[in-house]
Amino acid sequence: MVPKCGETDEPSGRRAPCVRPPNPATGIPLSEILVSTKTSARTLSLSLLSSLVGLAMALPGAVVDGEFVARGLELKPLELAKAPPLPKQSLAALKRATGYSTRDLKGSAVFVGTVNQDGVEQETRLASVPFELDGQPHHALFALNGDGVFLRAAVVNDAGQPLDEWRHTLKNFAFYELPRLDGAQPRSELGDARRQWSRRGKDPEAQLGLALLDVLKHMNDQASVFNLPPEGRALGPAESSEMASQSFTQLADLAEPLAPLLGQAADEFVRLATESSTAAANMAAAARAEDWDAMGAAQRSMMGNCRSCHDLNLPELEGLVKGTFAAARESLGIGDGFYQVGHDLRITHHDRERMQIMADAMRCAALLADGN
Ligand code: HEC
Repeated sequence: MVPKCGETDEPSGRRAPCVRPPNPATGIPLSEILVSTKTSARTLSLSLLSSLVGLAMALPGAVVDGEFVARGLELKPLELAKAPPLPKQSLAALKRATGYSTRDLKGSAVFVGTVNQDGVEQETRLASVPFELDGQPHHALFALNGDGVFLRAAVVNDAGQPLDEWRHTLKNFAFYELPRLDGAQPRSELGDARRQWSRRGKDPEAQLGLALLDVLKHMNDQASVFNLPPEGRALGPAESSEMASQSFTQLADLAEPLAPLLGQAADEFVRLATESSTAAANMAAAARAEDWDAMGAAQRSMMGNCRSCHDLNLPELEGLVKGTFAAARESLGIGDGFYQVGHDLRITHHDRERMQIMADAMRCAALLADGN
C-alpha cells in the first residue's frame, strides 16, 4: 500500500527515503547566496496560535494500546512497549509548533518496539493522536522505522478500523518532508513569512522567499490535478488541463525572482515551464474535441517535462533543482514538514478544511513519533 524505500513518486519524481534525511538540510553551498536572508523568517513576529484549528473534542473511548495502533496501521505487532514520556522541553516545542498542549494530548500514545511489515521485521516508533472530524472521534496513526524514516500512516475510527476515505491521501505521505521536533515551526509561520516578504517590495531576498512559496503551491496544484482517483476529480479533463497550463505560465514568470538559485539554468527552466504550459493547453483542446489519443500524447509530453525540470542541473550551486530548492527553503525558515494543505501537501479529493484537520493531527503524531 505504501511505497518502499527508493520507490519513486509518479508525478513529482521524489523518492521515498531509505535513511533518515538530515535536518536541517546542509552541505549545499547556498550560504554565500543566502547569507543575509538566513534570519529573516526566524525573526518574524509569531502570531502563533491564532490560526490553529480549535482542538476541543469529544473524548474518544477507545483503549489505545500498541496493538490498537499497529493493527490500525496494518502492521503486525511483535513487541511493543509504551515509550517513556517526552521531556518537558520537547512537549513545549510540540505545543509551540502544533498548538497541542499536554491536555490536548490526553488519549495520545507513543510505542516503541518491533512490528512485522509485509513479512519484514521492523524496529519502529508508533504514535497515535485523537482528533474529531464530523463530530466523530478519529485517531491519526503514524509510524517511523528504526532509522526515523516514514513507515506508514493511517486514520482509524474509535473502533480501530482504518478509514478507506483517507487511504489514497495518506499514500503520498511517504514522499513529503517529514516533520521533525527539532526546530519545528507553527504552520502560521508560512503566512507570516509571506506577509513579511510581501512588505519588502523589490528586495531580491524577499522576492526569492515568495517565489519559493509559490513554486511549491504550483507544483502541488499540478500533482493534485493529475494524481487523483478519477471519481475524486472536481474538474473535467479540459478544465484541469487549462488550470495546469495557466499554472505553468506563472511558473515560467518565477524564473526572475528565482535567478539567484537558477543561475545559468534559468533559460532552460523557462523553456521547460513554457513547453509544459503549451502541452497542457494542447491537452485542453484535445479534451474539448474529445480526441483522447491527442490528449494522451500531449499529456505524455507534459509529464516528460516534470522530471527534466526537477533534475535540472544548477552548475553554480553544484546541485539539482529539487534538493537545492529544498535547502533554500530550509535556510529561509520555511523548510519544515508543515503538513499544510496546498503548500507541502497535495490537495486530494477532500474538502480542504477537513483535510487540514486530519493533517494537523497527523503532524502532531509524526512529531511524537520523531520524539527527540
Ligand atoms: C520548469 C520547472 C518544473 C516543471 C516543468 C515541473 N516542476 Fe515540479 N517542481 C519544480 C521545482 C523547482 C520544485 C521544487 C520546489 C521546492 O522544493 O521548493 C518542484 C517540486 C514539485 C513537487 C513537490 C515535491 C516535493 O519534493 O516536495 C511536486 C509534487 C511536483 N513538483 C510535481 C510536478 C509535476 C506533476 C510536474 C509535471 C506535470 C512538474 N512538477 C513539473 C519545478 C518544476
